[in-house]
Amino acid sequence: MAQQYIGAVDQGTTSSRFIIFDKKGRIKAVDQKEHKQIFPKPGWVEHDPMEIWKNTGEVIQGALRKAGLKGSDLAAIGITNQRETTVVWDRSTGKPFYNAIVWQCTRTHDICKQLIANGGQDRFRATTGLPVATYFSGPKIKWIMDNVPEAAHAMADGSAIVGTMETWIIWWLTGGPRGGAHVTDVTNASRTMLMDLTSLDWDNNILGELGIPRECLPRIVPSSDGESWGPTMEDGPLGARVPVCGALGDQQAALVGQACFDIGQAKNTYGTGCFLLMNTGNTPVPSTQGLITTVGYQMSGEKPFYCLEGSIAIAGALVQWLRDNLGLIQNAAEVEELAAKVDDNGGVYIVPAFQGLFAPYWRPDARGVMCGLTRYATKHHIARAVLEANAYQTRDIVQAMNRDSGTDLTSLKVDGGMVANNLLMQFQSDILDVPVIRPKVSETTCLGAAYAAGLAVGYWGSLDELRQNWAEDRTWQPAMEADARAEACHGWEKAVQRTFDWVE
Ligand code: G3P
Repeated sequence: MAQQYIGAVDQGTTSSRFIIFDKKGRIKAVDQKEHKQIFPKPGWVEHDPMEIWKNTGEVIQGALRKAGLKGSDLAAIGITNQRETTVVWDRSTGKPFYNAIVWQCTRTHDICKQLIANGGQDRFRATTGLPVATYFSGPKIKWIMDNVPEAAHAMADGSAIVGTMETWIIWWLTGGPRGGAHVTDVTNASRTMLMDLTSLDWDNNILGELGIPRECLPRIVPSSDGESWGPTMEDGPLGARVPVCGALGDQQAALVGQACFDIGQAKNTYGTGCFLLMNTGNTPVPSTQGLITTVGYQMSGEKPFYCLEGSIAIAGALVQWLRDNLGLIQNAAEVEELAAKVDDNGGVYIVPAFQGLFAPYWRPDARGVMCGLTRYATKHHIARAVLEANAYQTRDIVQAMNRDSGTDLTSLKVDGGMVANNLLMQFQSDILDVPVIRPKVSETTCLGAAYAAGLAVGYWGSLDELRQNWAEDRTWQPAMEADARAEACHGWEKAVQRTFDWVE
């Protein structure tokens, strides 16, 4: 009997998950495990790549167990991942030379400053779609080369290889030191600041500028690849040979999971960060408004689709901060309860520029602020300001997106952990003045990776089949007067300005 399921790994910023889907895109089983966040200095963030690989194996086995399935019951598996996070490892042992440097990490500030001094922040934008920023992988690779001499030597003599997290996981799944595939999907490659968006190849000039040897980098492959990158190993976590043939950065995976296959369709994912992507079709659209241009997906044998993206560094991470650093709540869900006890923010705004601000500002030197405090303010207003920060940051992105694309967004598809929060979703709709739509399957990230893998092996026949799987769960309609919205947004704009005032 043909296999009835597809599996997807989501290697995220805070946890790794494995989800098994059926043909209708319904979830059969999920397993999830958090990994340690390592903060060696203010602004530095690392993950232990071996812990992540171990957790990935465990959640694959956990989900199979819960579903009562064997690895051989899966037609294929796909991978989705936190983007930009970078590892350098020994190809003959699999041992990393250094922890994974996480997308949020700002340690490459000086490298970026230097690059900017020699040609401006937008010097690579025409080629890569990206501004020079600490966010992207290229400067992280250079930092490892500059600071870990064994890694630099091994990269020079060809014994070290480099990759983002999908590359790391695919390499291990397909054999690791015994000849695992060293590949990166085109969406992840587009986040390195090393790939030419048009040729879909590494750019020699930028590689030369950063001193990165091309031989260490993975082969760039389509997101859904009819030529599987290899089967999984029988002695690996799946216990069977299953084709690994789909990979997408997590935000692009959510775009695919939300079936945003038409030009102008957009989705916003509220995870650790928050990322709004709009499909712009087969031609990359340059941004003049502080957004980035990125690959959305590329299906086997087809032209790539591009996106305009607005990236927000801190979204759900602000709720975690409220829980872990301030102790104001016990668990993330409590923030809504707390915030719902008041009708508004009482004049309090929080701008979570913990790692600087990403789009549309690109200010690594900005720092977080809480302002508008009076003796009237309570923890309820603070909880509300935490939630509202996500909506205001999204508004900044939507305004830039409307200007860049020349058309106004008329509705917004949303997903990610925070869309369970009704107060935030209503406020989002109020502040944007457009309907906000949540799909029935909110695990769109894993679903997108499953779709990429399933299309590659013919489990799903066409994008139309995927469109039919999409179903609406709930829509929030805007219900705020224009004057109230303008006043609220004015307060936010003043608060954002304070994050720059802090800089000396
Ligand atoms: O670019 C970073 C992004 O991929 C991280 O996503 O889901 O951890 O917020 P998430």
